[in-house]
Formats: sequence, structure tokens, C-alpha cells
Amino acid sequence: MAASKKIVDEINRLRVELDRHNYLYHTLDQSEISDAEFDRLFHQLKALETEHPELVTEDSPTQRVGSAPLESFSQVQHEMPMLSLDNAFGDEDMLDFDRRVRARLERSEEYRVRYTCEPKIDGVAVSLMYENGRLVRGATRGDGTTGEDITQNVRTIESIPLKLHGKGHPSRLEIRGEVYFPRSGFDKMNAEAEKAGQKVFANPRNAAAGTLRQLDSRLTAKRPLTMFAYSVGLVEGGELPAAHSDILAILKTWGIRVNPLIETVEGVGACLEYYERMLIERPSLDYEIDGVVFKVDNLDEQATLGMLTRTPRWAIAHKFPAEEGITILEDVEFQVGRTGAVTPVARLQPVQVGGVTISNATLHNMDEIARLDLVIGDTVVIQRAGDVIPKVVGFVPEKRPKKTRMVELPGTCPACGSEVLKPEGEVIARCTGGLQCSAQRKESIRHFASRLALDIEGLGDKLVNQLVDEDLIESPADLFKLTEAQLVKLERMAPKSANNLLEALEKSKITTLPRFIYSLGIQEVGESTARNLAQFFKGLDVLRSADEETLQEVPDVGPVVAQKIAHFFQQDVNNQVINQFIASGVRWEQEEETGDPEALLGETYVLTGTLSSLTRNEAKARLQSLGARVSGSVSAKTSYVVAGDAAGSKLTKAQSLGVAIMDEDALIELLEKHGA
Ligand code: IVH
Repeated sequence: MAASKKIVDEINRLRVELDRHNYLYHTLDQSEISDAEFDRLFHQLKALETEHPELVTEDSPTQRVGSAPLESFSQVQHEMPMLSLDNAFGDEDMLDFDRRVRARLERSEEYRVRYTCEPKIDGVAVSLMYENGRLVRGATRGDGTTGEDITQNVRTIESIPLKLHGKGHPSRLEIRGEVYFPRSGFDKMNAEAEKAGQKVFANPRNAAAGTLRQLDSRLTAKRPLTMFAYSVGLVEGGELPAAHSDILAILKTWGIRVNPLIETVEGVGACLEYYERMLIERPSLDYEIDGVVFKVDNLDEQATLGMLTRTPRWAIAHKFPAEEGITILEDVEFQVGRTGAVTPVARLQPVQVGGVTISNATLHNMDEIARLDLVIGDTVVIQRAGDVIPKVVGFVPEKRPKKTRMVELPGTCPACGSEVLKPEGEVIARCTGGLQCSAQRKESIRHFASRLALDIEGLGDKLVNQLVDEDLIESPADLFKLTEAQLVKLERMAPKSANNLLEALEKSKITTLPRFIYSLGIQEVGESTARNLAQFFKGLDVLRSADEETLQEVPDVGPVVAQKIAHFFQQDVNNQVINQFIASGVRWEQEEETGDPEALLGETYVLTGTLSSLTRNEAKARLQSLGARVSGSVSAKTSYVVAGDAAGSKLTKAQSLGVAIMDEDALIELLEKHGA
């Protein structure tokens, strides 16, 4: 039976009423009614909707209970990258930051920049997309460019409006913030889980991350997650105010939860005072904060300041000092890393530091142990800062027992038995086993599969161990040769999981150049260097043939890193592995077509004078990618001299030797003709 107007009106009235109470409770923290009264209204609406299912809408307050489990999360490309923050660890760093800001804004010593000060919530970053005021998508940050679609889960979070309040919202508005697990709820959940003999979460942040990544959103709905918004991302079809603090204020009127401790101040001195106040507030908050964030408030000033690769120049996180604990150093074991580095790891009597149980800590290297003067049996001081691996920072001399044991570097690798060498003058001891060493193999495969590299879902630590221990794979390139028949023979591997893994492997083959470069695990090449290399060289072949001098043209690449990269690509085994990847179908969208690597084979070029449309090193790299040799001096064997503006003696010499000369336009034409 069609619902009467009276019922439609009643349903609408209840929805408006419930939305308002949700807002009062979650966003403004000022309830007008009791929980029992809220539940009564909720059930009234629920009952009417059950009688008239045709009137249920996606954004009804009843639609937050979660829905059928997903098979997996799909990926989301952020239309604007989700940035990260640079850190300040003390007042000096903050004063430097403020100095840099004023210098870039061309302001005097006296000018006091307006900063918005915000607690830095230790939770999980999310992006919420609202279209015409309706929540259409929630996503994780992921690597900043690609995240996961967690819409089903964010829809269950009561403090996130399914529909924005008020008017005047841009037609597409992306709101960003931190989802967290309130401490009170966390303690309660863990206490219950412990009683039931279930898994407990290490800390509220892990609990928030685990809950947001639940494939079954009905479970997410049962947990008390909430969110504070801290910025906007994409804004289309509408305008927002011109100051960050005003944007946060308007978001609040639209029903978005914004931290009430946020303040806007003038000058860095006031920022430092804010920091001190938050340090005092910290223990009384129902959420964890690991520092405070300062943001230049004026958006025009933000635009002038601009960004670095992954962090804006207009914001900084002033981190709180690490938390400390004291425990016994029971033993020191040695772990072998991806590049063979043999690292001492402290095995500790378990101790709680900042709410987390610590039983291992890094000791970095033997010099560090000598510097700290540690022996096994010592009572040691452990520090833990946020996400960072805990470290040993000292010992308590009065507590040193009579019977102690020295820490000794093993002469042979604990994984493969090859000799361990620590070259004179170097800090790091290394296993000499190379790819013979199972530990190095495992680590390089792990790195290759990791989230920021090829991101192979389901290839966890245990599986990597099995694959290497069973001799199914030797190098990461062998991953792509695995068959279902091989996989199902492994312990705890049903045909379904074997197929899922093969599918994940297939999916991972389509990647990006920065990810691929990063995945190679070249020493000193982290994610941001990989990105810079990709941006500079545009293609793998150009990078592969680049020499050290050219490599140093890349932002953040100095002589040491350049040497490591060049050395890596000179090794036959590395090139074989790369070729194997490509032969198995690993590919990425070419930012620019790469050229034929043999087009100019056997030709020698000399570059002289100033080129206007590209740097000399770029020209060199592109010529080399086509197989040419680029030399610094002209001889009779030189094939061509490329003469830019104000070319001098080399040009004269070329003319006297009768060597062919080309100008910049001809060079570009040549490069383009061969696709470099
Ligand atoms: S602003 C460019 N504000 O910290 C601005 N981030 O270390 C980027 N975070 O990924 C973020 N509280 O997950 C900002 N008030 C706050 C924050 C905050 C926590 C997290 C966020 C971000 C990470 C950066």
C-alpha cells in the first residue's frame, strides 16, 4: 500500500530530528536529549521504514549498520594527492620553519605569520567526497596518490554526515581528516576481547586502521570510530573562504566534526605556547595525539609557499618527545636485511611504553652498541616515538649485574652461513652471500611486494618465507612464474587462496615507473627518490644508461646515491632480473615514449654551449638512451658536435677537423625522431 503523505512527513520529520541530534552530540558535543530518547526516535523511524521499504533512502540515519561483506577493496585515485607533513622535533626546528616561511613570503623579522594550530591526531587519514552535499565515497590515504575505497565503512561512522547540513556547499567537495578509535572505546573493546580469548589490538591507531579495513562493514558499524576533519582536498563548483581557519569553521556549520582545541594565532611564539599547552592537555584527551600541526592560515600565502615532493612548505608537525620505558636486555640477535646488512636487534623483557608492549628494539649497528656501552643483562632505557621502531637509548649503570655477556658480531651469516664482513672504516657489517642468502632473498621479495612497491596483496611474510624455504623462488622476478600447482602444495594454501595470489600478481604487473624503480630496492633509493628519478628520466632505459654526473642532476641525488644507482644498473644480474620482469609483463604507462636503445649505437656526440630547451645533462641522458656515446672532447672520431649558444673552442676544433655540427633544433629533431 502506498504510504500516505502523513507517513512521508513523519519519516522526514524523524530524519531531520535524528540528524540534528547526531550533529549536536558528535559535532558540537552539546546533547539536548538522553541516549534513551535518541534510541526511541531511531526505532520509530526504523519501524516506519520497515513498513514502507520503498521510502528508505541511502542517507537515512538508519542506514549506518553496514552492508554485505566485500570481496576486496577497489582502488581510488585521489584527484589531488594526499600530502604528508614535515616534522619539527624541538623549538629550534620550529623557529627555522617560521624563518623559512617569512623569507619565502618576503616578510620582515617583525612580521607575525597567522598560523592555525591543531592537535595531531594519531589515527588514520581518510578522504570523504561529497557530491551535491551527499557522501558518495570514502577512501584511505594509501600512498597519497592511490588509496582504497572504504565507502561502506565510513558510512557506518555516526559522526560523518551522509548529507551535509546547511547550504552553499561546492557541488564537489572533498573533506579530509583523521579517523580515530576513542581511547575509552578502545579499552572497553580490548577488555572484552581479552575475556573472550580473542585478539587484542596493540593501540588505538591499529584498531582504527583494522576497523576501517574491514571487508564486512557490519563489524565496522559496531565499533565507535569517529573523525576530526582537518582540511579540504578537491573543491569544484563553489567557493570556500580564503583562510584555512574559516574553512574549518564553515565545515563545522555543515555538520562536519572539527577539533574544538584548534586555535588561530599570530607568530611562532604563540605556536610554541600552544604546543606546551597541548602537552599538558594530552593525558586528559579521549584520543591519542603525537604532536601538534601548524598551518599558515592564509591560502594566498600557502599558494606562494608551495610544496616539496610530498609535503607542503606551509605546514609542519611539531612532534611530542618520544615516550620512554625501562627493561632488561635479555639477548642480542642479528638480522640480515635486503642488502645484506647484518643488524643487531635487542631482545627485551616485554615492557609497556606509551600503551604498547615492546619486546624488540633496534640497535642499528655494532658502533651504536659500543657507543651506548651495552652488555647483555643490562637494564636499558627504551624510547618509542609514534610509529617508529623503538630504540635503545642507554642503560642504568647502577643496575648492571655481575654476570654479563658481551655482544659479538657473528663471523658468519645467521641465515646462510656465508662470511660476514665489516670493511675497515664502514659502520655496517654485511653478509657476503648475496642472492645465495635466503634472508636477503626474502627481504628483497618482501620489499618488492610491499605497499609502496608493486603492492602484491596477500603476499605476506609467512608466505614469502615458505616460497623461499621451499625453493620455489629465488628472486622477485620468479614470483611471476609461480603456478597454481606449485602453490597449492604449500601449507595452508587452498586453491582459492592460490588463485587469489595469482590474480594479485597479475594485477600488480600494471604499475607505475616510480613504483617499479622503488621496488628494485636500489640502496639509498627510497620512494621519493624513485619518484624524482622517474620524473627526470621519464623512462627506464634512459635511467638505466645514465652516468653518475647526469644522475646528480636529479633533485635529492648526491654523489653517493648517484654512485649506488649507476653501480646497480652496471650489474648484469640486476639487468637480467629487470628484463625478466618486463618479459613477464610488468609494465607501466610510459610518461613519454622511450626511444630505440640502438638507434645511435656507435656514434659519439659532444655537447657544447648553452642549450635553451633542455639542460646539457638531459640532452646527454636522452642521447645515451638511444645508444650514443657522449664525450667531453672533440676528436676526429666524433660523429657530431651539438653547438648551443655561445659555443667556444670545441666548436672551432670541430670545424677544423671537419666534424659534422648540429644546432639545438636539429638535436631535438633527432631525439624526437628516435623517440627519446
Ligand atoms: S594536515 C598537507 N592536520 O598526520 C596537510 N594532518 O604526518 C596534510 N594528521 O597524513 C595533513 N592530525 O593523517 C594534518 N590536524 C592535522 C592532523 C594530520 C593528524 C595526520 C594525517 C597526515 C599525517 C601527516
